[in-house]
Amino acid sequence: MAVSYTRNNLSNSSLTSIEARDLDERKRWQKKTIKARILIGVLTVICSILIVILIVTYESGHKNTECTEKQNGKAVNNNIIKFVHISDIHYDPFYDKNTPQRSFCRPQLANSTSNYTAQYGRIGCDSPIDLVENSLDAMQNVSKIENVSFILLTGDLSGHGMWTSYAGPHKVLDNIAEVSNKAHSRFPDIPIFPVVGNNDLPGHYVLPNSSDWYKELLTSWAPLILCSSCPNDMTKPTTRTVLEESFLKGGYYNASIAGGKIVLLVLNSLYWSVEVNHNPEILQKAVEQLTWLETQLEIAAMRGKKVILVSHIPAGIDTYDGKSYWFSNYTNTYVSLVAKKYSYLVTAQFFAHTHKDDFRLQLSMTETGDTQQEVPKSFVLLAPAISPVYHNNPAFRVVSLETDQLVLLDYTQYYMDLVMATEFSNPIWQLDYTFSQKYPSENKFLDANRIFELNEELINQTSNKFWKGYVFSRETNYQPEPYSRFQLFCGMRHVYKEDFNRCSEQYNVPGG
Ligand SMILES: *[C@@H]1O[C@H](CO)[C@@H](O)[C@H](O)[C@H]1NC(C)=O
Ligand SMILES: *[C@@H]1O[C@H](CO)[C@@H](O)[C@H](O)[C@H]1NC(C)=O
Ligand SMILES: *[C@@H]1O[C@H](CO)[C@@H](O)[C@H](O)[C@H]1NC(C)=O
Ligand SMILES: *[C@@H]1O[C@H](CO)[C@@H](O)[C@H](O)[C@H]1NC(C)=O
Ligand SMILES: *[C@@H]1O[C@H](CO)[C@@H](O)[C@H](O)[C@H]1NC(C)=O
Ligand SMILES: *[C@@H]1O[C@H](CO)[C@@H](O)[C@H](O)[C@H]1NC(C)=O
Ligand SMILES: *[C@@H]1O[C@H](CO)[C@@H](O)[C@H](O)[C@H]1NC(C)=O
Ligand SMILES: *[C@@H]1O[C@H](CO)[C@@H](O)[C@H](O)[C@H]1NC(C)=O
Ligand SMILES: [Zn+2]
Repeated sequence: MAVSYTRNNLSNSSLTSIEARDLDERKRWQKKTIKARILIGVLTVICSILIVILIVTYESGHKNTECTEKQNGKAVNNNIIKFVHISDIHYDPFYDKNTPQRSFCRPQLANSTSNYTAQYGRIGCDSPIDLVENSLDAMQNVSKIENVSFILLTGDLSGHGMWTSYAGPHKVLDNIAEVSNKAHSRFPDIPIFPVVGNNDLPGHYVLPNSSDWYKELLTSWAPLILCSSCPNDMTKPTTRTVLEESFLKGGYYNASIAGGKIVLLVLNSLYWSVEVNHNPEILQKAVEQLTWLETQLEIAAMRGKKVILVSHIPAGIDTYDGKSYWFSNYTNTYVSLVAKKYSYLVTAQFFAHTHKDDFRLQLSMTETGDTQQEVPKSFVLLAPAISPVYHNNPAFRVVSLETDQLVLLDYTQYYMDLVMATEFSNPIWQLDYTFSQKYPSENKFLDANRIFELNEELINQTSNKFWKGYVFSRETNYQPEPYSRFQLFCGMRHVYKEDFNRCSEQYNVPGG
């Protein structure tokens, strides 16, 4: 309104000056202005078209160079950062390359030798040092090309069953120290964020009853988390004081990633596990950690930051036996924080423990008119293992994160075909798959909606190709184990036992 009022005023004042001239001059003037106006109009249109063409050409050219431009062999992209997710290394210092799988490849347990040697590991046994070293080397090679900026190491650094007469808790700490040092020496200038797994404890699923164990772990892990030799201009992940404060209580901590835009919350989910003996002290710590989680989420919300959650054992259902991984009261509190109250903050959750390439959803019921609808609120990426113990090939992933909207874009998985590596004495790491290519979608982000869509497509007979790809990926291209299709589908979809049961019961053909 204000603009048109000014315009009227202006044209009125110019009219009075024109009235003073004679009519002919006025007509000639008008003809000239019309011609000039037409000319200016045509020129403006041509110029606009040229500018649009220039912008479009520049933009697409710019995008192409952004994708392909390399600097010192590193891919350049201003708003994408990449990180590695590696898990369940399960280093076994007792591994013997001539000892068969039925003795867990440990000479202490063996009566005979195998007919072939397996330098890089055997399906059914934990990782020998050569597999640990080779995996870290492969990770280093890929990380250089991809310009990886940090590493998530989601638990079980130590091999299974170290609580034997020939080993013991000190061996667990030695294994963790050895794996951590080897990782740190290959990645001195980026932070590595380790997680406590059920095999990284003084006994299997035995939580420590003093801070001594956590002190020992920090001796190995503080250099990785604090990244003392990181570039000076990098936002430091955390400080020693802040790290010690929570870690010495229960093996959990917070850190800053993505140039300070994201808070990484590394949890010790063993406190919520049904496998742990919950004495009063453990109970208190289980609750204490949930309170800490809530405080951290509040702080992140206040500071306008997003959150990535990382731990070993996920919330939800074990699809082998249909049992919950956590006590339901802890699942309730966790899900109500992460997938309800603060779901808008959570970019993603990275867990492990199953040794399977898999996904988990956290849904919420929403009323739409008369009907209730399940809405995806949060999701978990479960990483495959390095250890081939559960009949899988070793694998790790490189995840990409967009730093403007702070969403995941994709991940690429790499694996080693262990049987072939053994047969031909030649360990070769190769590209396994890229998520967006294996499971194509209109949705370009890797978020809860996307995993929900994938979950629906998996059970849908019209896109059976997704199911076949998914099942073959679970053991990272080793032979798929027997499975129940509906158990896997319902386990991916539901975090609560009652929902999982209801889901499973709705399918009639046993095993799928
Ligand atoms: C590598 O990534 C970091 C962020 O982690 C960025 O600061 C740096 O510019 C990147 N380097 C190249 C060569 O792209
Ligand atoms: C080794 O031999 C002993 C005694 O015969 C037997 O009890 C044990 O099961 C054997 N172990 C393996 C791994 O075959
Ligand atoms: C090695 O091969 C021999 C002959 O084929 C067989 O009897 C024996 O069981 C094999 N040993 C193992 C550990 O597989
Ligand atoms: C890493 O790269 C080097 C140089 O290309 C290569 O010789 C080596 O085999 C690679 N290591 C792994 C484990 O892929
Ligand atoms: C916990 O403390 C008890 C004594 O109170 C001790 O016997 C036990 O070994 C301790 N457990 C661990 C895992 O440290
Ligand atoms: C980690 O948590 C502490 C409080 O426990 C807080 O002071 C600190 O700023 C947090 N760090 C990050 C990176 O969020
Ligand atoms: C959570 O549930 C477990 C198992 O029922 C119980 O032992 C524990 O006391 C509960 N924790 C709290 C804080 O209520
Ligand atoms: C299968 O896909 C169709 C089409 O996308 C969809 O309408 C239907 O609900 C899906 N079925 C299941 C069981 O997800
Ligand atoms: Zn494990």
